[in-house]
Amino acid sequence: ASTLGAAAAEKGRYFGTAVAANRLGESAYATVLNREFNSVTPENEMKWDAVEASRGNFTYGSADQIVDHAVNRGMKVRGHTLVWHSQLPGWVSSLSSATEVRSVMNNHITQVMTHFRGKIHSWDVVNEAFEDGSSGARRNSVFQQRLGNGYIEEAFRTARSVDPGSRLCYNDYNIDDWSHAKTQAVYNMVRDFRSRGVPIDCVGLQSHFNSQSPVPGNYQTTISSFAALGVDVQITELDIEGSGTSQANSYRTVVNACLAVSRCTGITVWGITDKYSWRASGTPLLFDGNYNKKPAYDAVLAAL
Ligand code: XIL
Repeated sequence: ASTLGAAAAEKGRYFGTAVAANRLGESAYATVLNREFNSVTPENEMKWDAVEASRGNFTYGSADQIVDHAVNRGMKVRGHTLVWHSQLPGWVSSLSSATEVRSVMNNHITQVMTHFRGKIHSWDVVNEAFEDGSSGARRNSVFQQRLGNGYIEEAFRTARSVDPGSRLCYNDYNIDDWSHAKTQAVYNMVRDFRSRGVPIDCVGLQSHFNSQSPVPGNYQTTISSFAALGVDVQITELDIEGSGTSQANSYRTVVNACLAVSRCTGITVWGITDKYSWRASGTPLLFDGNYNKKPAYDAVLAAL
């Protein structure tokens, strides 16, 4: 096949990208999106501050723009994200009672998932709930502070009850290296959820890589270990700083690791063109600032 999406489809996978609604009107952006990708993730448009900036007032304009674009073209949509400490409005962070945080969290999940029901392939129900470093601890957030460890489980149970048709994922970064404490902490949580019947279907490895944190040598072990718990693994926010052959080799390693594990069901890169990468100083994506295919693109297409 001659495009990323078609090549991935031949392997029973999807190949997606993060999309920004305010770029859809740029013709080169839309052309490459429509040609190459068969899944999209709204880069910011479904986050709490975008859809419920004030309590109980839900606004879906720019998220709907992306979802409609995708659905009209037969692309899958990943929902990102329901419960996260970041891009969270101040009114949520300042809630002081457990009862209020619980009802606000469950209402948010219910409203947002209901709005998009039937259109979302997988939801990142909870994003980045663990600390970096060696502690394996839960990250401090208003959800953790007011509700304790149980909030993650509660979010997944609520999500399943609202939309039983979409796959429910836990998503995080720095859980790519099997030897890291954070990876093990997330693994233990997923194992516990599976053993107690808490509804979870997938783990998202964000996979933001750079020279400080390159693609780990044990990446495939991480993927296969999560998969062995009976969940799918999705590579959800892939970008790799660098250029040329070394960047291409890193991308190839990621694709090969995913293809080697049948439960690794799809790869999403975190943007189309280097021009709009969230990593302002870098060139981590598959297309350069003029939408030319980079060596990393050729490596990915050849590996798929
Ligand atoms: C980033 C977006 O790309 C930026 O545009 C925004 O300013 C900040 O968030 N982990 C995630 C993503 O789960 O939502 C983040 O996206 C990148 C890190």
